[in-house]
Amino acid sequence: MRRLLSALTAAGVLLGLSVAVTAAEVARPPSAYALDNGLALTPPMGFNNWNATHCRAEFNEAMVKGIADIFVSSGLQDAGYQYVNIDDCWALPQRDADGNLVPDPVRFPNGIKAVADYVHAKGLKFGIYTSAGTKTCNVAGFPGALGHEQQDANLFASWGVDYLKYDNCNNQGVDARLRYTAMRDALAATGRPIVYSICEWGQNQPWTWAPSVGNLWRTTGDIGDSWGSVRGIVRTNMNLYPFAGPGGWNDPDMLEVGNGGMTGTEYRSHFSLWAMMAAPLLIGSDLRRATPATLEILLNREVIAVDQDPLGAQAKPVRNDGGRVVFVRPLANGDTAVALYNETDTGAVIRTTAAEAGLGRAPAYALRDVWRHETTETAGVVSAYVPAHGTVVYRVAAAKNWADYAPATDLSVTIPPAYPGATISVVQPGTANPLSTAFTNHGRMPATQVATSLSAPAGWTVQATSPPTGNRAGTEEVFDTQWTVAPPAGAAPGSYPLTARTTFIWNDDEQPRSAAVESAASVLVPSPPPSGTQWLSDVPWVHATSFWGPIELDRSNGERGAHDGHTITIGGVTYAKGIGAHAPSEIVYYTGGQCATVSSDYGIDDEKSGNGDATWQVWADGTLAAEGSATWRDGPKHLDADVTGASFVRLVTLDNGSTNSDHTDWAAAQIGCD
Ligand code: GLA
Repeated sequence: MRRLLSALTAAGVLLGLSVAVTAAEVARPPSAYALDNGLALTPPMGFNNWNATHCRAEFNEAMVKGIADIFVSSGLQDAGYQYVNIDDCWALPQRDADGNLVPDPVRFPNGIKAVADYVHAKGLKFGIYTSAGTKTCNVAGFPGALGHEQQDANLFASWGVDYLKYDNCNNQGVDARLRYTAMRDALAATGRPIVYSICEWGQNQPWTWAPSVGNLWRTTGDIGDSWGSVRGIVRTNMNLYPFAGPGGWNDPDMLEVGNGGMTGTEYRSHFSLWAMMAAPLLIGSDLRRATPATLEILLNREVIAVDQDPLGAQAKPVRNDGGRVVFVRPLANGDTAVALYNETDTGAVIRTTAAEAGLGRAPAYALRDVWRHETTETAGVVSAYVPAHGTVVYRVAAAKNWADYAPATDLSVTIPPAYPGATISVVQPGTANPLSTAFTNHGRMPATQVATSLSAPAGWTVQATSPPTGNRAGTEEVFDTQWTVAPPAGAAPGSYPLTARTTFIWNDDEQPRSAAVESAASVLVPSPPPSGTQWLSDVPWVHATSFWGPIELDRSNGERGAHDGHTITIGGVTYAKGIGAHAPSEIVYYTGGQCATVSSDYGIDDEKSGNGDATWQVWADGTLAAEGSATWRDGPKHLDADVTGASFVRLVTLDNGSTNSDHTDWAAAQIGCD
C-alpha cells in the first residue's frame, strides 16, 4: 500500500484513501520495496519478437528497425506503445575474451547499440533479454548472466538498454530470489533507468516477493497462439489481482494478437483481459504484416486506457459461474471497468449489477462499451450476451444525463445443449431443432415495437413457433421468442452461425428513436455416426479442447502447434494409433445411438517424466461409462466402456489439481458401432 501511495502521488493522483500515512513515509521509499526505480508506473507497452519469430533467422536488425518504423507510422507510438524489445537468440554462443556478450553478427551486423540508437532516435525505448542462468532457454545455448550480472548489466546500460527481460533457464538450482535480486542490484548500480522484467514463469510464486525486486513478473508458463493457452493463463493470472500495482505488475506473458491461431473474438478477449488485468501490452506479432483487423485491436484506445489507468488496480473477478466471469476494476477518475468474460464454448448472457461492481446508488448508470464505442443507460443491471470465448468491456459510471442514451439491452440465443451439461449445441439435418431468443431491456427507458428476426445460412429452414411475449420483471422488460431451425439434409458437418436481431423504439419523451441489437451463436452439424470398429483417431469429432496445444491424432501432445508431438509412448510401449491430449481435455463424438463400446490404453506420455498425473474418463451422454487414473510413473493401463445407446461419446481427461506435464494419451483407442 505504501508503494502504491507513493506511486499515486508521483502520478499526481489525489489521495482519497483513509489510511494513516505520514508525508515522510510517502516521500521516502520504504525499505521493503527496495526496487522502487520509479519505472513502469503503468504496465509497460511495446513489442517483443519472440511470439512472432522465436529463434528463426527473420529475427534480425531489419526486423527490429522495421517494427520501430511501424510504431511511428501506424500510430502505435501515439497510442502508448513505447518499448521495442528483443528476445532470446540475439547473442553468439560464446562470450569474448573479456567475458562480454557478443551480438550475433549475422542478425545484428552493426551490433546492438546501433539498433538501440535507431529505436531511441524515434523517441522509443529499447529492451533486451537474457537468463538468470548459465545459458538462455534456446537449445543453441546462448550465455546467461548468472555470475556475470554486473558485467552484463553494465554492457546493456552502455548500449542504451531501457528494459531487461530476465529468464529462468539453466539456473543451476540457485534460489530464485538470490538470482533475481542480484540482477536488480546490478541494474541499479549502472545508474540507468531499466525496467526489470522477471521471467520465472510463476514457479516460485513471484507475486509474493517480486514487487520489491522487479517491475513485472511472469505468472505462468509461455503463452501459445491458441484459445486454450489464453484461457489457461487467465485462470491463473486473474486470481493474483491483490499483488499488482504501479511499479510492479503480474505478467501473463506477451500478446499473441495477430499471429493467426485465434479468431477475432478470441483476440479481442485476449486484449481485453490483459487490459483488465493491468498486464504489460507487449505486441507479439510481426507488425510489418499486421492486418487492419489486428491494428484495430492493438490501437483501441479505450481498452488501452483501461490497461494504463494510473490507479493501477488489477481487475478482481467478482463472480465466476462455470467460466462466465465478471471482472471489476476501479479506475482513477471514479469510473469502474466491468468485463463480462465467457471462456466457455457456448454464448451466454453474463450479468452483474452496478452494486456488485461497487458503484454507489444512482438513478441510472452510463455503460460505455469500449469495443463498440457506444454508450447506453441502465437502471442497474450490467449485462451482455457474450459469445463463446468473447469478452464485453464496459466503463461504468453513475449518470445524471442518462436520458441522452439508448437503453442497455441484451439479446440471447439459447440452443439446447447437445447432452446434459454440454457446452456445445448440435443441430440435426432434416429435423426441426428448437431454440429460443430473449431480448431484455435494462434501461430506465421502455422499449416499444420490439421485433426479433433470426437468420441462418442459405438453405436452412427457420420458423418462429411462438410469437414474442413481453413481460416486465422489476425494472426489466423481457421479450422471448421460440424458434425451430433445420439444416438441409446432407448439410456438411461443421460449425454454422445463427444471427438474431432485435429492433426497437425508445423514447426520451421528445422524439422516438430506433435502435437495434444483434447476437450470433454457432451450432454444430455433426458427421454421421461411425460404423463398425474404428480407431477413434480416424473418427471426426464434433468438438475438442485441450489445455495446451491442439488435440493430436496418432501423436502425443506437443503443447504448441499442430503435429508437434511424438509417437505415442507410454512406459516404453509405442502406439501407431491413438490421440494425444493435454489435460484438462475433452473430445466429443456424435454416435447417434449407433455405438456400444469404447476401449483404450491410457497413460501420461513418456515425453514428460518427473511430473504429470491425470484421470481418463469415457462418457456416454451425461453418464460416466469408464474411468481410470495414472501418473507419469505408470506404464500403459486399459479401460473398456459400455456406451450403448448414447447420442454423444466423450473422451475426457482431468488434471487432478495441477496441469503440469499432463500429456494424456488415449493409446490405440477404438470405438465399436453397428
Ligand atoms: C522462455 C521464456 C519465453 C522466451 C523463451 C526464449 O521460454 O519464457 O518468453 O523468452 O524462453 O528462449
